[in-house]
Amino acid sequence: MRIDVITIFPPLLAGAFDHSIIKRARDRGIVELHVHDLRDFTDDRHRTVDDYPYGGGAGMVMKPEPWFRAVETLRSQDNPGRTVLLTPQGQRLDQALARRLAREDRLIILCGRYEGVDERVREHLVDEEISIGDYVLSGGEPAAVVLVDALVRLQPGALGSPQSTVEESFSAGLLEYPQYTRPPEFRGWRVPDVLLSGDHGAVERWRRERQIERTRARRPDLLSEDDDVSETTT
Ligand code: ADE
Repeated sequence: MRIDVITIFPPLLAGAFDHSIIKRARDRGIVELHVHDLRDFTDDRHRTVDDYPYGGGAGMVMKPEPWFRAVETLRSQDNPGRTVLLTPQGQRLDQALARRLAREDRLIILCGRYEGVDERVREHLVDEEISIGDYVLSGGEPAAVVLVDALVRLQPGALGSPQSTVEESFSAGLLEYPQYTRPPEFRGWRVPDVLLSGDHGAVERWRRERQIERTRARRPDLLSEDDDVSETTT
């Protein structure tokens, strides 16, 4: 998969894309990631990317020309890919949306800034608008890091074991079970006996029960009506 991110703050992204799973996936050629400075697509001496809003009002609006120039430069003839704008007005990112986007060969991600982006960018350049949650960030850059991370870990071969993605919380529709490592007792708090028992069936059942219990307590919206702990023993 190839992902191009366009921003006026490339350093905000460079660090995040140069560590851990994203770095490993890049090194292995699983994803190709490019960060572009929107100002490189301006044509004035001051490299202007924003201007006053028509009709007045507070703040600045990002001009359409640099966005169109940047995206049209990056789109290839045979595979333009999808163009995504990060904005709190977009569709909320969840694992299902991440899975759908992870199947694309190419993605161009636009990080909006300031009070907004000229509406013609949304209407005529962008295929979809995505929000990472119901809160307002100063710009799309942190959201781009979140989105890219979610997409990269879904690429085949990006994680150590393919089981990892399958087992992850939202893939199974349940939250994670509690995890422990050594020591078996720390400050008097003991690791549950079942995990030390060596009984794999019992461990599986215990984990499944904890997942359902935790999901019911914290995210009941994720549980379907007929989910029942008793099902887990089958
Ligand atoms: N830009 C500002 N806030 C955002 C959000 N919540 N999601 C995506 N992009 C944003």
